[in-house]
Amino acid sequence: MKLRSAEWFEGRDELGPQSRSVLRTLGWTREFFSGKPVIGIANSWSELNNCNLGLREIADAVKRGVIAAGGVPLEFNTISLGEELMKPTTMLYRNLMAMEIEETLRSYPLDGVVLLCGCDKTTPAQLMGAASANLPAIQVCAGPKHPGRWRGRQIGSGTALWQYLDQYRTGELSEDDWQALEACYSCGIGTCNTMGTASTMTVLSEALGMMLPGSATIPSADVRRLAVAERSGRRAVELVQEDLRPAQIMTRAAFENALRVYAAIGGSTNAIIHLLAIAGRLRVPLDLDDFDRVARETPMLLNLQPNGTRLMHEFDAAGGLPALLSELRHLLHLEALTVGGHPIRAQLGRQTHNDPEMIRPFDDPLHQAGALTILRGSLAPRGAVLRTSTATPELLHKRGPALVFESYTDMLERIDDPELPVTEHSVLVLRNAGPIGLPGMPEWGSIPIPKKLLMRGVRDMLRISDARMSGTSFGTIVLHVAPEAATGGPLALVQDGDQIELDVTARRLTLHVSESELQRRRAHWRSPVSLHRRGYPRFYQEHVLQADEGCDFDFLRPRDDEDLAFVPPIVGRS
Ligand code: FES
Repeated sequence: MKLRSAEWFEGRDELGPQSRSVLRTLGWTREFFSGKPVIGIANSWSELNNCNLGLREIADAVKRGVIAAGGVPLEFNTISLGEELMKPTTMLYRNLMAMEIEETLRSYPLDGVVLLCGCDKTTPAQLMGAASANLPAIQVCAGPKHPGRWRGRQIGSGTALWQYLDQYRTGELSEDDWQALEACYSCGIGTCNTMGTASTMTVLSEALGMMLPGSATIPSADVRRLAVAERSGRRAVELVQEDLRPAQIMTRAAFENALRVYAAIGGSTNAIIHLLAIAGRLRVPLDLDDFDRVARETPMLLNLQPNGTRLMHEFDAAGGLPALLSELRHLLHLEALTVGGHPIRAQLGRQTHNDPEMIRPFDDPLHQAGALTILRGSLAPRGAVLRTSTATPELLHKRGPALVFESYTDMLERIDDPELPVTEHSVLVLRNAGPIGLPGMPEWGSIPIPKKLLMRGVRDMLRISDARMSGTSFGTIVLHVAPEAATGGPLALVQDGDQIELDVTARRLTLHVSESELQRRRAHWRSPVSLHRRGYPRFYQEHVLQADEGCDFDFLRPRDDEDLAFVPPIVGRS
């Protein structure tokens, strides 16, 4: 086996000694590293990202596995995208992290990589970068955190917070209650324990074949997580020996499987954008209609917040993804390969289905088909997304007058104004929060219910935006409207009082305004969004694609197979 790293470590002239001296600086002898596969460990640990704090210990376990299998581990840190602290949104930096991963893998003497992920965007960013670099790769996640308890009830990350927030706004919860809740809210290191974006993306990484079977759901504090990290380190060495690469694993069949799983778990809407971006890196054909078709055919089986009542550790105890896959067996491409080296078929039946309240039988689902709906129509010509499983059934067919917020700031200033001209029949519209608009498409789509309606007991309304929302949120919320308002899409032309109609059965989102009137408005429209003057946000605004294309950068999607295979020449002098 000719190792890529040998180009450096066995290189001609001064390149060999120069490269080997780097490893000697680590205190390693030539016997330890000579001729062995070099495995990078991409660690997104950071004190700025509480969800990923467990990754140092996990990296140590990975190293153990790499060394035991005859490889040489080299850990490196990457940018870490912490959902709670990073503003305006981690989504702005997902592509930056993906570029960092891709370029690190390409430019250093690595034969393979173990990707350590956790919080929402770290998982897709690593998969995008690894897909483009196409070196043997395997992913290990931080694992869902232990749930806190408050007033005898398990606290589901995010979901419980949004529920209690409404009670706090109406005065049902006091300031003391609110502070007591805060103290119980985050009771452990690890990722959100609901089916938010982090859990959705790690489960989908396993479904795509990029994590070892059964590993996505293991809780962060469970010692099995260290064992699976060690096994992943071993496997990384074997992947190099087998020359098994991400492009052979993340195939169209693997994405079809991931879409089935996505529908069955009622996953976060953010995953649509991420899967489109990952597939785009590999030239795997995938579009919004694929999501809608698969969601129509696939029932939702997982009883997990925010769709259901349970949390991630209970999903794990019920058998995790392998048990769910067993229920979906007849819909899957069973020949799809995983990083374990076997087709996905091999893991079915290993886990018995032992909790039908957690993972519902296929013929007795939590929701019949349609946890997700892709909408099109005059308000969203290139598509919009609704997580039907968390919507209010009575609002799935709804027509009402628009109440428009020009920006997030405008919304915050007016939403609790007692004079706000709103009724429960209004359709709340937020715009200029899309990929270019802010930029970064923040999770602002879950527009709060106006306080005066909240006080009257209204808990859900039809809300529409070009933003995203947290995967832990719920409600009748139409997201990702494309094209976004900042580019002059129809969303930019809506005025207060315009009739908007949602028809989930017909998959339509209609703005009932005549084409001539829209043309008149368009002639007077000026974008309220200005490009940033400098730096990464400016670069982002100039290159980001719309939501229906995954919000990747235009120049990172390969145009042909030649783009897929780009490897820079290695030269002696740097
Ligand atoms: Fe990091 Fe939810 S905030 S996983």
